[in-house]
Amino acid sequence: YRTLDGVAVAGKRVLLRADLNVPLRDGRITDLTRLERLSPTIVELSGKGAKVIVLSHFDRPQGKRVESMSLRPVAAALGEVLGRAIGFVDDCVGEPVARAVAAMRNGDVLVLENTRFYAGEEANDVALATLIATHGEMFVNDAFSAAHRAHATTEGIARLLPAYAGRLMQAELDALNAALGTPARPVGAIVGGSKVSTKLDLLTNLITKVDLLVIGGAMANTFLAAQGAELGKSLQEPALHQTARDIMAAAAAHDCQILLPVDFVVSETFAANPATQVVPAQAVPANAMALDVGPATTDAIIQAIKRLKTLIWNGPLGAFETPPFEAATMRLAAAVAAATDSGMISVGGGGDTVAALKQAGIIERMTYVSSAGGAFLEWMEGKALPGVAVLTA
Ligand code: 3PG
Repeated sequence: YRTLDGVAVAGKRVLLRADLNVPLRDGRITDLTRLERLSPTIVELSGKGAKVIVLSHFDRPQGKRVESMSLRPVAAALGEVLGRAIGFVDDCVGEPVARAVAAMRNGDVLVLENTRFYAGEEANDVALATLIATHGEMFVNDAFSAAHRAHATTEGIARLLPAYAGRLMQAELDALNAALGTPARPVGAIVGGSKVSTKLDLLTNLITKVDLLVIGGAMANTFLAAQGAELGKSLQEPALHQTARDIMAAAAAHDCQILLPVDFVVSETFAANPATQVVPAQAVPANAMALDVGPATTDAIIQAIKRLKTLIWNGPLGAFETPPFEAATMRLAAAVAAATDSGMISVGGGGDTVAALKQAGIIERMTYVSSAGGAFLEWMEGKALPGVAVLTA
């Protein structure tokens, strides 16, 4: 893919696809990470004298103008993160945009309204892409986290203008390639989360790529139950027992070691701070459910990751949002941070994972934490991301 290295942008109208899809609660942005991660590309383009025109979707307005999904407040927050005034136009095509762009001076930054207000965005409509493309002379994609969508402003427009990867896109691709493309070995993965069904493609791909696969979260229950463990009231997917056995067999054929829980922290109710008990993973009492992996499992995982040169982490080990079931995830996070300090490459991603790493306070200590959710997952599943593929075409 083409980066911004050596590209002349001074005086050019640059359409910058960003991912301004930030979490919003009661009209307030609750996490600025995506804006902070985007800012180096804007600072660089603007500093080199480009006219930076920012495009993004926001939420899922289904092709209609929905005022609560306007990018206006996000543009204001972006201005605060950048510490400068930036413009906003309440459309992404048409006369008002053309006028605002014509008035831009070199170095100016202008945010356009939510591209998903037009149905043509998600339909990857060439007509919409063409209308938007008329506002720029080149296209820079910095929205790795939306690159799994083949939309007008992530894919279609890259065919109409000279197209480049922005610095955040570049950082994401470099980190993911280091983790799974050509990793330093041994390489391991920790996969947690509640369902095997949503991570089937992920597991199937990982067992062909990694030397060690740690399975945690409720999805481990399905694997254990498939081998005859008693799991009481624990969440699991009986319909996937055969699939779980197939994955185990395929892993063995690929020399991928699978590490499953050997003990659990269980409780009779799923609530904050209930009475808990540590039990063997094979024998959860009939009236109890597994809500976190136990201390012996955590010890085993921490021992196992010590010999890794690369680790990729997607999904918590337990129900980390409800105390005390964050314990294993927090202990593991501390161990991952320590291993990273001693030279292991550690890459994490996915919405829940980032929240857990944040709670553990180790985001800065990981080698890289992806700002992507769905795109990170699809990339780890081994799928080509349309927004990335078009930059390498
Ligand atoms: C995300 O937040 O993961 C991206 O912005 C993609 O959003 P989407 O799932 O609505 O396409």
